[in-house]
Amino acid sequence: MVGPSRFKGKSFISMRDYNRDEIDFIHGVADEMMPLEAEGTDMAKGRVMGALFFEPSTRTRLSFESAMLRLGGGVTGFADPGVSSAKKGETMEDTIKTVENYVDIIAMRHPDEWSSRKAAAVASIPILNGGSGSWEHPTQAVLDMHCIKHAKGSLDGLTVGLCGDLLYGRTVHSLMIGLSNYDVKLKLISPKKLAMREDVIKYTEGKVEWEATEDLTKVIGDLDVLYATRIQKERFPSEEEYKRFADAYIIDNKMMAKAKKGMVLMHPLPRVNEIATEVDSHPGALYFKQVHHGIWVRMAIIALALGVY
Ligand code: NCD
Repeated sequence: MVGPSRFKGKSFISMRDYNRDEIDFIHGVADEMMPLEAEGTDMAKGRVMGALFFEPSTRTRLSFESAMLRLGGGVTGFADPGVSSAKKGETMEDTIKTVENYVDIIAMRHPDEWSSRKAAAVASIPILNGGSGSWEHPTQAVLDMHCIKHAKGSLDGLTVGLCGDLLYGRTVHSLMIGLSNYDVKLKLISPKKLAMREDVIKYTEGKVEWEATEDLTKVIGDLDVLYATRIQKERFPSEEEYKRFADAYIIDNKMMAKAKKGMVLMHPLPRVNEIATEVDSHPGALYFKQVHHGIWVRMAIIALALGVY
């Protein structure tokens, strides 16, 4: 039986570390956080979270911070490494070993794929991975799955399309690993050059059925969930290379008309051109509701890691 002790004092680094029972348990705690968001709670009173963002962020940082504030805790940190001692040449590990003296838990984002693992190795407090290069973004996957469960009732039995930049997009790496714990069929929709990262394919081998295609039109009618992603400009070797793929998929009302009735459209955001704004009023457009799940799921993850749930 999974209980709170499984998470107490533990870092949250990779979806590889969580099985179905553990994901379901976090989702259950997130459900309990839904009313508490409005009612308020002092669960984390007297505790402080450090939000160390070495890379740009809107949703992940603000929702981690808001989640901690709604738990009754406090927040400190930086949103730009240019204003921290990283600018003076301090290593990320030294920053972690310093900040852990001021806070009880750290949520971080860093361009290095190994960053959260390196941070957890030197820290004596829990590290929550808010995005480590193009490797993983596990708390996003937990919130994405929570959002799907609420929209569709269950993850089991669904056909989910992951579309866009499956090579560099960290959200889809964590999401494929997370979904592989459920009875889900995946359609991996991307240009061949941006196909799903090899280590994710290897890790999920035998756990999930998938089919790769370049053609969204061909498969959109099969999908219960379409999860679109941004082409990750900042990870490309050159601007030229990025431009070749920039507008690989554009989901507009014409494309949505080809979808199965009841299909929901998700996106971790920010979107660039992948979803036309005309789709925002479509009943299946879930991406701004999806954002709200970040609060409940991160309240759950923080409370569990702090051992205050
Ligand atoms: C994503 C990220 O930073 O990986 N955004 C997010 O956290 N919601 C997606 C992206 O940047 O494309």
